[in-house]
Amino acid sequence: MAKDRMRVAIVFGGRSAEHEISILSARNVLAALDRTRFEPLLVGIDREGRWLLQDEARLLASAGDPRRVAIEPGPPAALGAVPAAPGVPERGFDVVFPTLHGTLGEDGAMQGLLEVAGIPYVGAGVLGSAIGMDKDVMKRLLRDAGLPVAEFVTVRRARFEADPESVRAAVARLGWPVFTKPANAGSSVGVRRVRAPAELEPAIRHALEFDDKALVEAAVTGREIEFAVLDGTPPSVSGAGEIVVEHADGFYSYEAKYLDERGARLEAPARLEPDELARGQALAGRVFEVLECEGMARVDLFLTPHGEFLVNEINTLPGFTAISMYPRLWALAGVAPTELVSRLIDLAIARHRRRAALKREPAPG
Ligand SMILES: Nc1ncnc2c1ncn2[C@@H]1O[C@H](COP(=O)(O)OP(=O)(O)O)[C@@H](O)[C@H]1O
Ligand SMILES: [Mg+2]
Repeated sequence: MAKDRMRVAIVFGGRSAEHEISILSARNVLAALDRTRFEPLLVGIDREGRWLLQDEARLLASAGDPRRVAIEPGPPAALGAVPAAPGVPERGFDVVFPTLHGTLGEDGAMQGLLEVAGIPYVGAGVLGSAIGMDKDVMKRLLRDAGLPVAEFVTVRRARFEADPESVRAAVARLGWPVFTKPANAGSSVGVRRVRAPAELEPAIRHALEFDDKALVEAAVTGREIEFAVLDGTPPSVSGAGEIVVEHADGFYSYEAKYLDERGARLEAPARLEPDELARGQALAGRVFEVLECEGMARVDLFLTPHGEFLVNEINTLPGFTAISMYPRLWALAGVAPTELVSRLIDLAIARHRRRAALKREPAPG
C-alpha cells in the first residue's frame, strides 16, 4: 500500500453516558475506512479519561451489542501534536475522527483540545459543537432566526432554588403535558414527560442532576422525523428517516432507545408527502447553517398532524453504529459508508487548511 497514507486517529469511548455507543460507532467508522488512502490509529478513552491505543482486530471483531464492548488496556496514547520525548518515536495523527457522543466529546471540549494542538478533525468546530450541545442556546438561536421550535422555559438552578414559584408561573403558560430535560445531555438522559403540576418540581430536580440548567418545553404532538446533513456549499440534506416509538413511555425515552429492543423502530425512508419532504429538507439545511455547524449533523424535527415542522434538536456527532440513522440515510441516498467517511475526512482537512491560511496579525500599513 502507498506509504503516504494519511493517519486517521479514531477517538472513541469517553466519559459520557454514550460510552458504549461511541465504541460501536468507532467500529463502523474503522470498518468503512478506505485503506488505500487512510491508515487507522485507534484511541480509546476509558471511563477514567485515560487515552489508550486499541487493537484493530479486536475492535473489528466486537459485536453490535453495547453490553459487550469496552475500552481494553493498551499503551498510553498522546495527542498527535505533542512532541515525542528524545529517543521516543512519534506516532502522530494527521487527522482525528472523533466518534465521541455527548459530554466532553460532542460539546466542543475535544474540539478545543484539537484546535489548540493544531490537528484537523471531523465534524463541527468548537462553536457549533457547544451550541448544538446546549438545548437552551440552540433554541434561542433557532427562535432568533425565525425557525419554529416548541415553546420553552429555561430553568437555572440558582433561580429555581431561590424562587420556585416564578418558575411554576412561567411553566403554567405552556399548558400540559410538558417535557423537562437537562440543557446539556443526550440519549434522553434526564428527560421526563410531565403530565400535571404536582410532577413538575421533582422532574426539574431530576433534570438538574445532570446539568445546572434545565428546559421545560411544551409537548409537541407529532412524528419524529430526522435528516442527515453533510457539509458543502450549500450543505447536502438526505431523505427523511422516522423514529416510530412503540415503548409504553410514549416518547423516545432512554428505555425506548437502548433498553427495550422493541422500544422504537427506525424507518427509512420515512413516508412523507413530496412537499413535506422538501420543506423538511430545507428546514434541516437552515438549522445546520443557523447553528454554525460544520462537517456533519443529524437534524431532528417534529412533524405535527397539521403538517407543520418544528425543530427538536441537532446532533453534531450522530451515532455511526450499524443501525444508526445518519449512515443509513446516506446509504439510501447512494453514499456508501466508505465514501461518507472519506468525504468527512476530506472536509476536515479542507477546513484546517482554510483556517490555517487566515491572517492572525494585522497587515502592515
Ligand atoms: N417538546 C417535546 N414534545 C414532545 N416530545 C418531546 C419533546 N421534547 C423531547 N421529547 C421526546 O423526548 C425525546 C428526547 O428528547 P431530546 O430533546 O431529543 O433529548 P436528547 O438530546 O436526549 O435526545 C425525543 O426524541 C422525544 O421523543
Ligand atoms: Mg434527541
